[in-house]
Amino acid sequence: MHRRGFLAAGLAAVLASPRALAQMKMDGMSNMDSMPGMDMDGHAGHDMGAMGQGPAALPEGEALRELPLLANEAGQTGLFKARLTAGPATARFVADKDTPILAYNGTSPGPLIEAHEGDRVEITFANRIEGEPSTIHWHGMPVPADQDGNPMDPVAAGADRAYAFELPEGSAGSYWYHPHPHGKTAEQVYRGLAGAFVVKAKADPVPAKYGDTVLMFTDLRLAADGSMPANTMNDVMNGRVGDHVLVNGQKNPRLAVAMGAKRRLRLYNATNARFLRLAFANAAMTVIGSDGGLLEAPVAVDEILLSPAERVELVVAFDKPGAATLTTLDYDRGWMGPGRPADAGLTLLTVDVSDTPAEAMPPLPERLRPIAPLGAPTVSRRLVFTETMAMNATGMEMGFLINGKAFDMGRVDFVAKAGQTELWEIVNHADMDHPFHLHGTQFQVIEHERDGKISKPPYLAWKDTVNVARGETVRLITRQERPGPRMYHCHILEHEQLGMMGIVDVKV
Ligand code: C2O
Ligand code: CU
Ligand code: CU
Repeated sequence: MHRRGFLAAGLAAVLASPRALAQMKMDGMSNMDSMPGMDMDGHAGHDMGAMGQGPAALPEGEALRELPLLANEAGQTGLFKARLTAGPATARFVADKDTPILAYNGTSPGPLIEAHEGDRVEITFANRIEGEPSTIHWHGMPVPADQDGNPMDPVAAGADRAYAFELPEGSAGSYWYHPHPHGKTAEQVYRGLAGAFVVKAKADPVPAKYGDTVLMFTDLRLAADGSMPANTMNDVMNGRVGDHVLVNGQKNPRLAVAMGAKRRLRLYNATNARFLRLAFANAAMTVIGSDGGLLEAPVAVDEILLSPAERVELVVAFDKPGAATLTTLDYDRGWMGPGRPADAGLTLLTVDVSDTPAEAMPPLPERLRPIAPLGAPTVSRRLVFTETMAMNATGMEMGFLINGKAFDMGRVDFVAKAGQTELWEIVNHADMDHPFHLHGTQFQVIEHERDGKISKPPYLAWKDTVNVARGETVRLITRQERPGPRMYHCHILEHEQLGMMGIVDVKV
């Protein structure tokens, strides 16, 4: 049988048989025997769930809150010094119900870190999560390997550790931070641990009048009692998709602007597994930056696809009075089994554009900054993504593999040389899209291939995460400047946890 058919048939059989489900065994999952609310049609609390009670309704339309800034305790220029404590906290998503969450310094999303190119950063991490190791990974940032919060460097529950690194010239961009402990990343992130880290340029070509606002998308599933249900089998296969997409922790908040205003918005997909295809009604979007900072020139767009972990920097022009809404469009990223979320038509943000005109806005410059080409690659690597499902004596095992292998912390998958330009070819032979992420550096996508057709990306951009659609091959050029082991993985965090991750060891 064709592999795709085999997978679909195997999955249908599994989901049709509660006994098979009960026997299902997942490597690296400690609580699969206690899958709460797993049923034939989906899972507890989900939109599509057949549990009798739908998802809790969340209040909408509150004023958008800016993320709290992490205070710099250094008291001197050129140094950013602070403390981040991860630990249990409570949130009020619905009236009179406390939701136990995990938070950095008591807030989720975590505090916004704002530092400048050239700064030295010293952040002490205190892990106060009960009984679980954690780390802080600086997603997308050019930090030394031993400061990057790899799964090989866990911080034990109750322990502290200092992270220190410099932000090189040219590193301005929209990064983020989140835990990366072996086997626990997915859960710690959906419970609330993720924050934005914006590195500001010394000389920024984008007019300051546009402001600079982070919009961090997270995904929440809330049970009727206000708790966050644990991952189900469905979540493990597809990645966890919640019932509510939140912006800075709020559902469909409102932002007021004057007519004619332009706003600089940094959009972050900090969900575990939700693909966000986004459009703005009654407002014009211009892409000015990607994961790793500004493009060479602005590009007007009608929509954007933001796969898990990707970021985009936009300038949005609000020229028509009334409501300008940021909504989701349909995107089929390949869904295994029943319960595909209906994710089109969600309103994520409502901007109220007044009919009083804004003060005059300076124009966006035609050139933003040069992006240096990485040069001709001298090494090429091929990474093939597959999904497997196999019956064995004890039950069903699923695997998300790269080059036929599941992640092994003790294994180096590739050895690279610092300063050497490499071509990476990411081939998706699986039934789902997998957003590919590489640590330690930014890369440049050079082409996509699907059904024998090759296409070039519409513009040159610094990226650390790129969606590799099912059946697609993505080719990218990358160069690691610093030595040490670096992770690469699918950023659907459940897939990363089930094995779709590897290590490239960079030698001097
Ligand atoms: Cu955002 Cu290895 O992660
Ligand atoms: Cu990362
Ligand atoms: Cu994946």
